[in-house]
Amino acid sequence: MNSSCEQKQNINVLLVTLSAQGHLNPILKLGKILVNKGLHVTLATTNSALKNMSSAPKCIGGVYHEFFSDGLPIDYDREANMDYYMDTLSKFGPVNLLALIKSHPRKFACVVHTPVVTWVSDVAAEINIPNAMLWIQPCTLYQIYHRYYNGLDEFPTDTNPNMNVKLPGLPVFHADELPSFVLPSNRFRSLDSILKQVFHNMHKVKWVLGNSFMELEKDVIMSLNNGGCVFWPVGPLVPATLMGKEVDVGFDLFKSNEDSNCMEWLNKQKPSSVVYISFGTFLFLTEKDIKNIASGLKTTKRPFLWVIRVPENQELPKHGFLEEIKEQGLIVSWCPQTQVLSHPAVGCFLSHCGWNSLLESVVAGVPVIACPQWTDQPTNAKLVTDVWGVGVKVKKSLDGVVSGEEVGRCVEEVMSGLKSEVIRKNALELKAAARVALRDGGSSDNNIRMFVDEVVSSCSCTEHK
Ligand code: UDX
Repeated sequence: MNSSCEQKQNINVLLVTLSAQGHLNPILKLGKILVNKGLHVTLATTNSALKNMSSAPKCIGGVYHEFFSDGLPIDYDREANMDYYMDTLSKFGPVNLLALIKSHPRKFACVVHTPVVTWVSDVAAEINIPNAMLWIQPCTLYQIYHRYYNGLDEFPTDTNPNMNVKLPGLPVFHADELPSFVLPSNRFRSLDSILKQVFHNMHKVKWVLGNSFMELEKDVIMSLNNGGCVFWPVGPLVPATLMGKEVDVGFDLFKSNEDSNCMEWLNKQKPSSVVYISFGTFLFLTEKDIKNIASGLKTTKRPFLWVIRVPENQELPKHGFLEEIKEQGLIVSWCPQTQVLSHPAVGCFLSHCGWNSLLESVVAGVPVIACPQWTDQPTNAKLVTDVWGVGVKVKKSLDGVVSGEEVGRCVEEVMSGLKSEVIRKNALELKAAARVALRDGGSSDNNIRMFVDEVVSSCSCTEHK
């Protein structure tokens, strides 16, 4: 072992995240990459992650796990009381994380956090540990929020709600393509104030690592770096399963409670024939949404795999319209999404456009039917249709509903015909580019190496002088 290798194994990195699936997935993947580069990595999250688990995982893929309290009982329904949850977390999280760090046998050289736990920057500053933020949405969103929260450009207001916005490195966005938090109609107080804090606290963050890759969002990444940010895309941070490697162990907060095995079901379907449908981990579809999607699927007569999540302790109601289509497809409450997207039977993904789902779709080369709801999703949907050309977007009626006819029309548009061929070709090009970015010497691999080198050298500066 050479001395640089020995030196790295004594370097401990602490990752801190909110216990939410879309946050845990990318930071755990970053942790595994850092372990492969020779660092020792610990991931700390709140103990609400343990809600559905019989015991706390100790180590996943070489990344060690620690848990701290967010100040609420484990079984508290956080999703239903988001503002209270965020307030409590920001009060108790810093105290409990600080206690964890101080009592931990390892001395951390760097702390990396995801944006919602922005108070981690204050904890790191208090004990003088260099801090990086892992930005877990597109770099496009970072630029929009940076410009918005620092008051650098005009955004829609109550008196001018429909204005277009043009920002450096980005195409023109209409108001309904902007993230919901920058619109005057935003009603989520806590998330807006957290984002404000993130962008006012950036001077405490030494590096911003992005879950994206240069080839996917080049103009905006160049613009951010030219504007003085140290913004290094290190993604796509997705499980190795999507790269055709063996099944990658993750940290699943939810478990499928069906006996049906969706992988076995997919094995019986024709190549590129299945419509996969999922709206991520936060959204619950209304009965009307479920009915309209079901009627759209029925008209296509195509096989489908549909993840329908219901609020905690509730069963999926036995809707007659779901009974009607049950022979045509499979409905589950949770699936191994990255294995599903890499299965050759999957032909398209009807998605809410959460960033993890979208990146997974990009890496799998699967075309997208975008059905965005809130937060970054409307902006992500624009990237799908207007920037990358890897899918179509459903048109909602004035009351925000998506009709069955519209679902059917979009499925046909991505599954057959000339437009579908162009979309598939673009999707395959991005799939290839994602692999190149992660390869040895690829754009993201180079950024990870730069980050590791800087952590190692900042550590030797403070400890070995
Ligand atoms: C949230 C926000 O909704 C989203 O807009 C933001 O970009 C990230 O945070 P979420 O709704 O959970 O995310 O969606 P997404 O980002 O797509 O993450 C969901 C994750 O759960 C994906 O990694 C997906 O693979 C996984 N998943 C989902 C499963 O493994 N199985 C399922 O059945 C459903």
